[in-house]
Amino acid sequence: MRIDIITVLPGLLEGPFSHSILQRAKDKGLLEVHLHDLRAFGLGKHQQVDDTQFGGGAGMVMMIEPIDKCISQLKSERDYDEIIYMTPDATVLNQKMANNLSLKKNLIVLCGHYKGVDQRVRDKIITMEISIGDFVLSGGELAAAVLVDSIGRLLPGVLNDATSALFDSFQDNLLSYPVYTRPSAYKGEEVPDILLSGHQANIEKWRQEKAILRTKEIRPDLLD
Ligand code: ADE
Repeated sequence: MRIDIITVLPGLLEGPFSHSILQRAKDKGLLEVHLHDLRAFGLGKHQQVDDTQFGGGAGMVMMIEPIDKCISQLKSERDYDEIIYMTPDATVLNQKMANNLSLKKNLIVLCGHYKGVDQRVRDKIITMEISIGDFVLSGGELAAAVLVDSIGRLLPGVLNDATSALFDSFQDNLLSYPVYTRPSAYKGEEVPDILLSGHQANIEKWRQEKAILRTKEIRPDLLD
């Protein structure tokens, strides 16, 4: 899979993709992440990418022209499955969306800044809009990093058995069951006996019950 990220702050995104699972995905040739500095497509000698809003009001709006030029160049090189805009006023990312996106070949992710992008970008160029939650970040970069991480770890061959995504929270619309490791007792706090019993069928039953209980308590909306 190839993901092209368009940003005014490429430096902010160099770190997140150079570690751990995403770096492994890149090393194995399963994921390519390309960062594009929007300013390279900016206008005039100051390489301007934003301007004041028509109608007045505080905050700059990202202009259509640099974005159009950057995306047109990418589209002339290959076909893209989705052109995604990261913005808080959009559908909130969930595991099902990450699963679906992990099956795509080429994605563009546009990071918003300031007041966001000119509406014509959203109407004419963007094919999908994603928020990572009901809060506002100072830009779309960290949201893009979250999105790419959630997709990258699902690519076949990226995770091994030990880290398999099959047992993640949300894969079956349930939160994860509680997990424990050594020592079996710490300052009087003991690991549930059943996990030490070696009885796999009972352990699976216990885990399922705990997952349901936890989901009911913390995220009852997932059970609807
Ligand atoms: N940009 C700013 N806030 C965001 C959010 N919550 N999700 C996606 N992009 C954003």
